[in-house]
Amino acid sequence: DAGEHESYMRKEILEQPTTAQAVLRGRLDERFGTAHLGGLDMDARDLRAVRRVKILGCGSAYYVGQMGAALIEELARIPADAEAASEFRYRDPVIEPDTLYVAVSQSGETIDTLLAVQEIRRKGGRCVGLVNVVGSAIARECDGGIYLHAGPEVAVASTKALTNMFLGFALLALQLGRVRDLSIADGKRLVAGLERLPGQIEEVLAAEADLVDVAKELAEARSLFFIGRVRGFPVAREGAQKFKEISYRHAEAYQTSELKHGPLALIDPEVPTVALVPSDELTERNIGALHEIDARQGPLVVITHEDVDLGEIGARRIVVPRNEPELDPILLTIPLQLLAYHAAQHLGHDIDKPRNLAKSVTVE
Ligand code: BG6
Repeated sequence: DAGEHESYMRKEILEQPTTAQAVLRGRLDERFGTAHLGGLDMDARDLRAVRRVKILGCGSAYYVGQMGAALIEELARIPADAEAASEFRYRDPVIEPDTLYVAVSQSGETIDTLLAVQEIRRKGGRCVGLVNVVGSAIARECDGGIYLHAGPEVAVASTKALTNMFLGFALLALQLGRVRDLSIADGKRLVAGLERLPGQIEEVLAAEADLVDVAKELAEARSLFFIGRVRGFPVAREGAQKFKEISYRHAEAYQTSELKHGPLALIDPEVPTVALVPSDELTERNIGALHEIDARQGPLVVITHEDVDLGEIGARRIVVPRNEPELDPILLTIPLQLLAYHAAQHLGHDIDKPRNLAKSVTVE
């Protein structure tokens, strides 16, 4: 049972510093700045032959797939994208021999993802899995894969498995990158970043108490936005997903850059926005968008880094530690788990078993 924790979700959130270490263990190569992923069953030649990466998953696994696609494009310079497995399998997709398909699933039993894998393999595509449950249907159907080693995840809303999916993608991106153009210096920089991550996750969790009041305020809103750009956008999508799943509030993710093309019309003192504003090449532009929200008295919660100066903007600021920019998305995700959790807790919902949802959907 959840032991001294009031729910499995909170227990699983707090386990992340330990479970994150488990997915990295034995897979990092400090000397050559790369990763070793024996379970993929692909040698350097196979890895070099990959011309495109297509990631498939459902729900949170799909959103973390978008984070993974960004990592692969950045580190390996291979075109990569993620698609909802539930849509992919219904649209008669073109299966290409030099595309690496990656199925992402905590349970390994999600029917939409499983049927996508079967369709890919029937048509001769190579599909590897990022799966948590050993020996599950998706793990068995794939050509190879990366087990996530997060341990059993009970709460419907995925937290520790999702973090390990991100780390699994980082390992894959690193290995794909290092058999191509990624320099040894960059490889070593990322290996060192990955080694720092579990401790930094712990730092974010240690600041949990600072988030509780913010979460309660957000819980009172009927509708809210989550915004981010480029690396931050899948984080916003995942944040909105978590929030709606367990608080039952309408939470919608948007690219910060698209705000002025639509959602700004809805911003008023009743509609809060949770904004991802990491310290990166887009910080100034992101702050520009915050001014637009602030000018319309939209309440703002900003997940950001210490060195980002919000100036006159009236916002609740949540600071996370910096890692390497490519790896920052997962540290930005952790506070969003806590915000969703404390909002749902404040509302008195059944956090581990939200209404209408199942941990894994295994029937069509
Ligand atoms: C959904 C769950 O039905 O399945 C989500 O409600 C989950 O929380 C999704 O992310 C995918 O599950 P899995 O096991 O394939 O990662």
